[in-house]
Amino acid sequence: MDIASPLAVSAASLTALTKAATTISSTLELDALVQAIARLACEVTRAEASTFSTLEKSGNKLTVNAATGPKGQAMVGTNFDATLGIAGQAVRTNRAVCVPDVRKDATFRSQIDDIGSRQTRTVMAAPMVHRAEIIGVLEVANRLDESNFGQEDLKLLRVLASMAAGALQNARSHAELQGKYKGLRESLAKPTQIVGDSPKLKELLTLCDRVASTNASVLIVGETGTGKELVARYIHRASRRRNAPFVPVNCAALTETLLESELFGHEKGSFTGAHAQRKGRFELAEKGTLFLDELGELSRQTQAKLLRVLQEKEFVRVGGTETIYSDVRIIAATNRHLKNMMADGLFRDDLYYRLNVFPLTVPPLRQRASDIRALVSHFVQKASREFRGPRLEVSPSALKILENYEWRGNIRELQNVMERSVLMSDGDTLWPEHLPPDIQATMIPEDEAEVSSTLHGQERALILKALQEYGWNQSKAARSLGVTRYHLRHRIRKYQLVKPE
Ligand SMILES: Nc1ncnc2c1ncn2[C@@H]1O[C@H](COP(=O)(O)OP(=O)(O)OP(=O)(O)O)[C@@H](O)[C@H]1O
Ligand SMILES: [Mg+2]
Repeated sequence: MDIASPLAVSAASLTALTKAATTISSTLELDALVQAIARLACEVTRAEASTFSTLEKSGNKLTVNAATGPKGQAMVGTNFDATLGIAGQAVRTNRAVCVPDVRKDATFRSQIDDIGSRQTRTVMAAPMVHRAEIIGVLEVANRLDESNFGQEDLKLLRVLASMAAGALQNARSHAELQGKYKGLRESLAKPTQIVGDSPKLKELLTLCDRVASTNASVLIVGETGTGKELVARYIHRASRRRNAPFVPVNCAALTETLLESELFGHEKGSFTGAHAQRKGRFELAEKGTLFLDELGELSRQTQAKLLRVLQEKEFVRVGGTETIYSDVRIIAATNRHLKNMMADGLFRDDLYYRLNVFPLTVPPLRQRASDIRALVSHFVQKASREFRGPRLEVSPSALKILENYEWRGNIRELQNVMERSVLMSDGDTLWPEHLPPDIQATMIPEDEAEVSSTLHGQERALILKALQEYGWNQSKAARSLGVTRYHLRHRIRKYQLVKPE
């Protein structure tokens, strides 16, 4: 039975439909919306069970997103051939279908049309059509009062399906916009100001500007804390992709299965704990930049999967069937020596060469010590604004210590040290004694006059004098100074005092 002619609907049906329209139009959240529609389909047609299924873009598969009825929950997440069954007929013919007795109907397929009712007798299905395109099917089974569905029910289902189609499309755009908005807000919240004017840094930024305008994959290498992520964000902002999201992925923090679903997303119920469909980072980064941080931590198996996506530019969600095409720029970073890892068989050569199209090396801070002055001033100003208020000057003696320090943790370490020192300071100047003790201890005084003008300089001079007086006998020198030998030894190390040859 098919419906073509207009038919008057009863007052009760009209009331049910009006209520449905109100509910549907007040819900923008995808999951809540599809569940409400499935529920309303039962209410409006007084049916025992219902399913809400969406059609893949390819038109090949229908996936159940929500279901009601005694066995409905088991249907959620399943997918089936979109040409089969009564649901398939609704898709093929683009018309609402009513089958009063499924036992007498050849199109009925129990696996598809047994939609969670106890024993299916009668079924209706209506296509959800948006702008002449079928985007899903709404299906109901069994009248609660055991009568058959009639013309009026079919008409009601058709109207509901068309309202559902519009609402589904709105909710999808809403979710997409929200995702984009979130991504953009996150990428804007992070600073991208790169401080420093050493020749090495300038050279690096020139390379960044050059590569930004291309789509080439970039591999950023450098020690921990050198600013690899900052450089990646800089490239994104300087590229034509700047208005699309910058999406970071920490390869180290994820296990094998998590990484896959994190990168590619997953469909409902694809593995334990995955309750709803979730977009992966590749999809979230669409038209933008995907930042693969700590690349060297990827397992070999995941390296292979990643390589395939990079080559074919397409992927499938975990537990899904639909192929998704991606337009993403990849920037990867690592502090590991990938060449050594390749030699040890821990990193795939093919992936390395695929990502290393444009290699960038961020030099460690000790190789660009001329950046330290600007960085110190930048971090001190930032920290004083945040924690104290009044302006804080950095004394030349403190700056000198900072410029000579090794900075194994690079700029991140410098940043932490400056924040801590700002908290330790009280006046308007940051002196060496405000620096952490292990950094103070590295002070190498050159100019005695300058040194003796500080508290530390005076302490150093006193200790040196006592040592000289007692021919570098530490016990005697300590006694004369009124300190323990242990204490004296510590100071000798701190001030790097050495007995002359
Ligand atoms: N040139 C710079 N100017 C200002 N801030 C910087 C600069 N370089 C790095 N930073 C800051 O130092 C910190 C560390 O930088 P980032 O996280 O980019 O380093 P990384 O190389 O990714 O480190 P890791 O290897 O540990 O992940 C960040 O807070 C960053 O903003
Ligand atoms: Mg990093």
